[in-house]
Amino acid sequence: MLIASWMNHSLLLTRARIATCAGPDDGDPTTRLGLVDDGAILVRDGRVTWVGPRAEAPSGADEIIDLEGRAVLPGLVDPHTHLLFAGSRIEEMARRRAGVDYQTIAAEGGGIASTMRATRAAGAEELLTRGARRLRALRRHGVTCVEVKSGYGGDVASELRLLVLAQRLDALGIARVSPTLLGAHALPAEYEGRREAFVDAVVDEMIPAAVGFASAADVYCDEGAFTLAETRRILRAAQGAGLDVRAHVGQFADLGGPELLAELGALSADHLEQASTRGLQAMGRAGVRAVLLPGAWRTLGQAPPEAERLRRAGVRMAVGTDLNPGTSPTSDLPLCAALAVRDAGLTLEEALLAITREAAKAIGRADAGRIEAGLPADLAVYDEEDPRALAYALGDVLAHGVWLGGKRVVERGASARIW
Ligand code: NIG
Ligand code: FE
Repeated sequence: MLIASWMNHSLLLTRARIATCAGPDDGDPTTRLGLVDDGAILVRDGRVTWVGPRAEAPSGADEIIDLEGRAVLPGLVDPHTHLLFAGSRIEEMARRRAGVDYQTIAAEGGGIASTMRATRAAGAEELLTRGARRLRALRRHGVTCVEVKSGYGGDVASELRLLVLAQRLDALGIARVSPTLLGAHALPAEYEGRREAFVDAVVDEMIPAAVGFASAADVYCDEGAFTLAETRRILRAAQGAGLDVRAHVGQFADLGGPELLAELGALSADHLEQASTRGLQAMGRAGVRAVLLPGAWRTLGQAPPEAERLRRAGVRMAVGTDLNPGTSPTSDLPLCAALAVRDAGLTLEEALLAITREAAKAIGRADAGRIEAGLPADLAVYDEEDPRALAYALGDVLAHGVWLGGKRVVERGASARIW
């Protein structure tokens, strides 16, 4: 039997409402969205070779799929997840509902530290299985590229184990994985009272060991986590080792993280519920993306960052799920985009860019987040005629079909459209 190979094979997706997300960078959000109303996409050898109006589509493709007017976006990009973990934080959520706050629970050794204990105790295969399940859950919504942080390991060996697992996840071919070392997430119990020794271990051991496994380094820079001086030391060392840098900043307090990230030329500053105008302006000038995390501000009941302040400071916005057991147990990236619209005030167009093109920029992936000739054919097709439905519906948006590197990886039968 001859098995059709998706390599050496050309595929034309036609009659599609395409948001290429590949319009000129200096354009307004609608221009950057690059809408093609009645469009087609030619895929060959796993890459997009042509995208444009259907009437101008090249002929002679081996296979033609009529999308009957469905919306097509680049495979979505989730720029911020902590999906390699074991254990549950339901009890903690119940305590928070009873009035105990997140930072108090963390100071008692719960929160991140409790997930660290559960993750260290879990076997590698169990972590991989759970991670793969979460990646598939993301992909059902059309996500094809995911940033995955370590951070629930704590010590050098455990953090490295998580980064190796992130690489194994990537190799499973569910979605593309960009691993980030989050060595400085919470002070591990065994370093209690020895903060400096821990930061030394991150700088002298963890970062060198992570080279080749992670593409970036992250620090949780906040009250109750790591100080600005510690963050600077760690991120400088990471840059010295050739890693890109980013940080969790201003989730509870503005310690000056945005200015530091601007000074370092970081990829992104994530959270930003608390941020000074000066800090945002510095980010705008340096081209540091803001990664907004609605799941976390919702779970913690916080006021969100305001899109208008970010816009005025010239900061481009990305949105992530922050998939983690403590503050954002969700894989629904379109829901997060929809919440960013409601809570933070992004326009629908900005929200679409925030989970595609800008999210890819925020994790330093030039190969994702746009439909453009030459890029891998990572595509998400929806049972919607208007791509803005992704940020309009409050959840429920599942992909009708997903292609990863030209290979169909999600296929739904009947139309799933309910809006
Ligand atoms: O992005 N703020 C730090 N890290 C996560 C929370 C992790 C956790 O609570 O386990 C966040 O919200
Ligand atoms: Fe996070």
